[in-house]
Amino acid sequence: MQITIVKSKEEAGKEAFKYVKEAIEKKEDSVLGLATGSTPEVLYEEMINSDVSFTEATAVNLDEYVGLDSDHPQSYHYFMEDQLFKHKPFKQTFVPDGTLGEEEAIKQYDDILEQHPIDIQVLGIGVNGHIGFNEPGTSFDSTTHKVQLTEETINSNKRYFDSIDDVPKTAYTMGIHSIMKADKIILMAFGKEKAQAIVQSLEGEVTEDVPASILQKHPDLVVILDEEAASELSSAKQ
Ligand code: GLP
Repeated sequence: MQITIVKSKEEAGKEAFKYVKEAIEKKEDSVLGLATGSTPEVLYEEMINSDVSFTEATAVNLDEYVGLDSDHPQSYHYFMEDQLFKHKPFKQTFVPDGTLGEEEAIKQYDDILEQHPIDIQVLGIGVNGHIGFNEPGTSFDSTTHKVQLTEETINSNKRYFDSIDDVPKTAYTMGIHSIMKADKIILMAFGKEKAQAIVQSLEGEVTEDVPASILQKHPDLVVILDEEAASELSSAKQ
């Protein structure tokens, strides 16, 4: 595991972009595992403002709310179009289909993942240590599945919706096993509210109670944190 602590989100975006660029330079048809949430926005800005072309690359996203179609402004489809794909074209992009029934949605996405093994996976983290929408208690062996979102996650994500009642209660997400199959993983986190999840995930016991703790076992994990998110780490305290 390699941990980089940076002074600002912008610097984190630049740092993360180095790895994405490197992957594309090595293999222009790389498969990028992408994430939503506010954390990776600085990376997407770097991608958009760069002269790197992604027209041969494939993007595979982590998750989607059940019931929201791609035109819904709070859907993750829409988020990705808006934040990245409409500015920087990819050869192909995939996000789980929130309009499909459970069985079909899961099968479709597992097939997509099988056909497009991820070279580099970008991750944010929830305040409870979730990755994608894999909430505490999710099996480390999980592949794509439907999840019941926790109150904590619904609360954190309500800022994007008019009211908490509008936040979907379920989502489709790549599983933890699917995430761990990526060749390289870049985990980013910013702010004091992520500090606890970060210390538990990176220095705590590897347990399904803290989904991101499994990342300790990944052979090529890069962690990019601002000082606040890193503030509970023992290495940062010395
Ligand atoms: C959502 C997403 C996660 C993301 C998390 C944190 O729950 N499913 O992939 O990591 O939010 O979001 P933020 O980056 O806005 O803190």
